[in-house]
Amino acid sequence: MRKNHVQPKVSGAVSAQPRLHQRAAEIQAYGTVSHLLPLELEEPVRLEMTAQLNQLLADTMSLRDLYKKSHWQVAGPTFYQLHLLFDKHYNEQVELVDAIAERIQLLGGVSIAMAADVAETTQIQRPPRGREEVPVQLSRLLEAHQVIIGESRKLARRASQIGDDGTNDLVVSQVLRTNELQVWFVSEHLVNVPLVEAKPTRAGAA
Ligand SMILES: [Fe+2]
Repeated sequence: MRKNHVQPKVSGAVSAQPRLHQRAAEIQAYGTVSHLLPLELEEPVRLEMTAQLNQLLADTMSLRDLYKKSHWQVAGPTFYQLHLLFDKHYNEQVELVDAIAERIQLLGGVSIAMAADVAETTQIQRPPRGREEVPVQLSRLLEAHQVIIGESRKLARRASQIGDDGTNDLVVSQVLRTNELQVWFVSEHLVNVPLVEAKPTRAGAA
């Protein structure tokens, strides 16, 4: 009794001190969905959709970061326009990351979040840490888009098949459309047209 009085139990006591260095068991494990949600979507549907959305999320986070890397490290005569374009696409990918992650949470799942977990999950090829030439940067970005576009189409079809119209809509209206548009803007930079002097036609050359 006396001991308790001298050393009062800290937890629950009213105090101005912050409670630091706290840890506890997870409240929900990754790869699970909560059971009771009034969404009219069965648990197996939500499990399958959240698993596929997490793959899409990891790949979208990788592409987002690839855009920032390209924004910082770009070099050469097209530096200014690409520096700006890469950051515009980065910001659009940031929006997609949030939309996908929040879709996973609202379906009762757990979104992948940290870089180390994303690195273990993504299907996008890891670039070197150093700087690369513009054509290589552009190629890497297009390959990453291709991975995401492919899995978006597959995921959208499957979502529709099993009755998850909300996921279908998100993936088609936001993820797929944004990625398709970005592919156009990036791929036009890889078309080899003259910058200053037109190539003479056969008739003009004669
Ligand atoms: Fe910047």
